[in-house]
This record gives sequence, structure tokens and C-alpha cells, in this order.
Amino acid sequence: MEKYYHITTYGCQMNVHESEKIAGALTELGYKACENIENADIAVFNTCCIRENAENHAFGNIGMLKKLKAQKKGMIIAVGGCLPQQIGKANALHSKFPYVDIVFGTHNLGKLKDYILKKQGQKKSVIEIEECDGVINEGEKALRTSYPNAWINITYGCNNFCSYCIVPYVRGRERSRRSEDIINEARELIAEGYKELTLLGQNVNSYANGTDDIPFYKLLEKIAAIDGKFRLRFMTSHPKDFSKDLAKVIADNEKICNCVHLPVQSGSDSILKAMNRKYTSADYLKKVDILKKYVPDCAITTDLIVGFPGETDKDFNDTLELVKKVGYTSAFTYVYSRRDGTVAAKMENQIDKEVSKARIMQLIDLVNSQTREHSAKYVGKTVEILPEDFDKKKGMYLGRDEYGAMAYFKSERDVIGEFTKVKILGANGISLSGEITED
Ligand code: SAH
Ligand code: SF4
Ligand code: F3S
Repeated sequence: MEKYYHITTYGCQMNVHESEKIAGALTELGYKACENIENADIAVFNTCCIRENAENHAFGNIGMLKKLKAQKKGMIIAVGGCLPQQIGKANALHSKFPYVDIVFGTHNLGKLKDYILKKQGQKKSVIEIEECDGVINEGEKALRTSYPNAWINITYGCNNFCSYCIVPYVRGRERSRRSEDIINEARELIAEGYKELTLLGQNVNSYANGTDDIPFYKLLEKIAAIDGKFRLRFMTSHPKDFSKDLAKVIADNEKICNCVHLPVQSGSDSILKAMNRKYTSADYLKKVDILKKYVPDCAITTDLIVGFPGETDKDFNDTLELVKKVGYTSAFTYVYSRRDGTVAAKMENQIDKEVSKARIMQLIDLVNSQTREHSAKYVGKTVEILPEDFDKKKGMYLGRDEYGAMAYFKSERDVIGEFTKVKILGANGISLSGEITED
């Protein structure tokens, strides 16, 4: 009889790729993917705890499975990832949802297969959280689902301890994979036909820091030197480690996309200090100038937080001013979320929800106006799109250009994974639409 799995993923690209590794492990156990969770023999929730609403989202979905599990006794429910990795959360989760069979963390993701087999032999739930002790697992076979893009981990964990952030506590200390392993994986993926590689890490530009392996910009250079037509992207860069060498490598290598995600978080120096970001707004703007000097057409995107403890109207205005100065093509905007165990959670002057709400609305308006302005410049131009999906509702293919702009267009045949010239005819906020052209 066929056995099916269903994975629900929350959070960042790191988790998206880790779900591909979980899918690989489940495939080895003989399970097949299914779209509807009701058909699943094993349902896995790969969770995130970066903000309260990410946690609530997962809690809500796990809660909804109670009924299904009561009807389908043999079904296995597994909850893993960042949420249970927080101190005390695995047991709390199991007390709230006793019908969850397996709880695992970020570090022992590779052992899910063993936990399933263990659970099948016992009535009791399997709750296994390990310390993030710095081990790197090589050779886990991912079942990739994001063709034509392929994710590649280059670092795990984070040492930065930004005062608001839970990631260093749930992902452990920063460690880098060996460049040889990364380059070999990249070469294999290109040979398999992937057209875009995205290097992943919490802070990719501190890659190999403190070891004798090559620095990040050299790693990029080596991957870009692999034969074949493909795009190379990376995320995320921390401004404190963004260097001239990196800007030059982006400028000199056509395969490296002229598109950099450079999270600033705030434009206020006192808030940046309280956030432990290790740069001032002037330092940040200097890095942006270096990037613009070497890569004048570079699309710059960012992450912004409003309502950090102690943020005054003046601090918030500094953020607005910085956003205006940089001119982002797009930005992720967040309301600060208090995370237990972080330094900021204990700070006084937590900001009133209503104040944060008003600030984020104002910030979103500004960011959206910049994005619209940027999109409008596309109309009439021909761009090279890498089609990644088909939108059934619209009846159109969609893909991105090198700068990360999303475009929709019609095609008679399946063009997913084929670089396609598209003439842009319309811009609607963040997305573009156009038609295939031969020029
Ligand atoms: N390592 C990456 C991404 C970390 S998480 C980096 O440093 O950029 C992605 C984003 O979530 C962060 O950039 C930050 O803007 C946001 N974030 C992290 N913790 C948060 C919190 N407690 N509340 C609100 N936003 C948060
Ligand atoms: Fe969190 Fe800061 Fe590390 Fe990013 S760099 S993961 S925001 S601690
Ligand atoms: Fe969330 Fe963990 Fe990523 S907390 S943002 S899934 S590293």
C-alpha cells in the first residue's frame, strides 16, 4: 500500500531547504508526497519562531489536526525546527498537543528517519531535542522542489546575537561547510540542469571566518567560474561584513546577480546600538555607496523593524530618512516581536502596539512607493526572465529577472527553467507583465 507524507513549512529559505531534506529522508523510507494533508500517513510541521505570529500560525495548524488524528489513528504527526528548539518549548508543545507523535529540533533534523522507526515500535511519543553543538551533516539527499532554483547551505547558525533575535539560540553557533563540498554540490546541481543557485546562511559574508578556508567573495568567484549559463544569488549579508571585495566580485561576474539583500533594521544610531547590530547608519550608507559605485545598477533590498523597545518618533523618522536615501527596490517590514530569552525581551520601554501599527503603515507606504517607482521604469524594456512557475488562475508563467523583479507572461509551451526574453508592457505595484519577444 502507498504511504504518503505532507510537509508544512514556516519561516525562512533555510527552512524551505531543510524541508527538502526532510522530504528526501521520507522518500528513502518509501513515502510519497501528497498535496492534501488529509491523505497523509505522516504530517511534518517544520516550524519557525522568529516572531510571535510565526509561532501562532504553526500552533493553529497543529491544533487543527486533532480531529483528523482522532479519525486516523495510525497517522504520525511530527513537529520540528526552530519552535521546539527553544528551551522548554518541546515539552510545552507536547502537553498542549498530546497527539503529536514526534518532536525534534533544528540540529537533529537528519535523525527524523530514526524517530519515525522508533515511534512505529512504541506507543509513547518521541521527543528529542539536541544541543546545536556545531556538527555539519554532509550527504543528506534533498528532494528539491524549487526548480529551476536550488538552495545550497554554506553556513549554519549565527554568532551575531542581535538583541531582538532568537536565531542564535535555536540554530547554534556559526559554522561553515567546506568550500570544496559547496563547490562540488554547485557543480552537480548545474550538471543536473538547475539554472539558479542561492547560497544560504544567516550571515553569508562571514563565511569561513576564523578558519583557513577561502573567504566568501572567493567562494562566489569559484562557483561563478563553473561552466554553463546560470544565476548565482546569496542571502543574507550582514552590513558589518559587507566588503569592497564582495562588491567587486559582483561587478566582475556576470552570473552573480546584481541584487543584494542588505538588512538595515533601523536608521537610528541609538536603536542600532541597542539592537547590537555593530554599525551606525553612516557605516551602513558607506557600504551602500561602495556597492553602488561598483555595481551602479544593483537592486538593494532590506529588512526593517519598527517598534523596537525605546524607539521614539525621532528614531522612526531616522529610519524613514535612511529608506529614502538608499532607495530600496523592495523591503520586508516587521513589527518588533518580543522573544523570550533574548536581551531585548528584558528591555524597558516596550512600545505600545498601536504606535507600532501606525509606524509600520507609514513605513509600508514609503517602501511601496519606492517599489512602484522602480517597477514603472521597466515598462517598454526587454528583460531576461527565468520562468519558475505557472499561475493557473492567471493562465500565465512567472519568473524573475536578475534584479529579483517578478514578471508574468503567456506562453504556448512550458518554459519553466528556460531563460526567456520578455518585453514588459505593464507594471502593477510589485509585479510586471509582458510578452515573449525575440529581440
Ligand atoms: N540572518 C538574517 C535574517 C534573520 S531573520 C539577517 O540577519 O538579516 C529575518 C528578519 O527577521 C531579520 O532581518 C529581522 O528584520 C526580522 N526579525 C528577527 N527577529 C525579529 C523580532 N524579534 N521581531 C521582529 N522582526 C524580527
Ligand atoms: Fe538574527 Fe542578527 Fe543573526 Fe540575523 S544576524 S540571524 S538578525 S542574530
Ligand atoms: Fe524562523 Fe528559524 Fe528561519 S526562527 S526565520 S525558521 S532560522
